Amino acid sequence: MRRWFSRHWGGAAGGTAIDLSIIVPTYNEAPNVAELVRRVTDAVQSRQTEIVFVDDSTDDTPDVIREVAETAGVSVRLIHRDEKTGGLGGAVVEGLRQAQSDLCLVMDGDLQHPPEKIPDVLERFERGDVDVVVASRYVGGGTAHGLADRTRVLVSKASTALTKAMFPVKLRDVTDPMTGFFLIDRRTVDLQTLKPRGFKILLEILARKPFRVAEVPFDFADRHAGESKASLGQGMHFVAQLTALRFGKMSLFALVGGLGAVANVFIVWALTQLGVDYLVAAIVAAEVTIIGNFLLIEHFVFQDMRGAASGVWIRFAKSFAFNNAEAVVRIPVVALMVSSGHVSAVVATAITLVVAFFVRFVFHSLVVYAP
Ligand code: GDD
Ligand code: MN
Repeated sequence: MRRWFSRHWGGAAGGTAIDLSIIVPTYNEAPNVAELVRRVTDAVQSRQTEIVFVDDSTDDTPDVIREVAETAGVSVRLIHRDEKTGGLGGAVVEGLRQAQSDLCLVMDGDLQHPPEKIPDVLERFERGDVDVVVASRYVGGGTAHGLADRTRVLVSKASTALTKAMFPVKLRDVTDPMTGFFLIDRRTVDLQTLKPRGFKILLEILARKPFRVAEVPFDFADRHAGESKASLGQGMHFVAQLTALRFGKMSLFALVGGLGAVANVFIVWALTQLGVDYLVAAIVAAEVTIIGNFLLIEHFVFQDMRGAASGVWIRFAKSFAFNNAEAVVRIPVVALMVSSGHVSAVVATAITLVVAFFVRFVFHSLVVYAP
């Protein structure tokens, strides 16, 4: 990672400690930098402020930032990343790490977040009763008119509702968990545990542990210049982020299980095509998928728990024994459900598979990978 620090100008020049770091992620925002710095400088007035641009641009944004820094009224720093690890979210985390002040305000570089709101945000924080102040488009007086079209408004509202439903307690006081405009005391965030990906870094922070949050309304403005970098790909990142945050290991475990089911069917099909007896094919397929399943969860699901658990052969023995027992037990259970006359074989199979999934997950996380 290349870094470049500007000369310190204006408020911060006299060696006074910086008491507000404004973190601005930028990706090709050259035409917006000067205007942003000008309006932020006006808004923060006498505070000892630095603006930290965390830049992943492929255009001349870094040059523009350096140039603007020469004459800016506040300290301007540039962190240029050659690898855009974690995208927008990763950039914000890098900014939080390198900020000189614990008090960090995060905002976009395209002026959709009006710098004139900064005093309101600071004032709310200074009442001293919260860890985070969220500038919200959806709290009384806020608007989202900068969301260019109806589809984006709908997507934003629907995903906000879904997200709030998934974290009803942690997001109780938050109407806009998707905003990129917020103030936080860095000391309340465990930066190590964040797994930034995609655009929604505030959600990533708030979903990990309880925070005391207050909101102030703001008008999400039109872009000053350039184009939004939001895309379908960002949407996919968001879905993955939500799933991982909410269901963590369980969703990955389910994914691995699903792959196993597909592999199982395929092996049975392939072997019977080759003339192998159905029963033999089914047994071979079951054992192969049980072993494959173990290898995948070792590496992708419970990899962080291996160190504290028993040795690999013990783990394998437990997992192997459990999955075989489960396969054997499930057959008479299905038979019993069907013969009791209430459900079809397909429904009975589906029900037992779902129950087995949860039991298997609990067994693996509490027994196989027990510390
Ligand atoms: N460093 C870095 N790396 N910055 C990025 C990247 C990246 O990969 N992608 C985007 N940015 C910067 C942009 O340059 C801009 O300053 C800011 O992040 C927001 O990106 P936009 O392209 O303007 O996206 P948006 O307007 O759709 O999204 C904004 O509004 C959302 C609310 O609808 C962001 O603030 C989101 O955080 C916010 O949720
Ligand atoms: Mn924007």
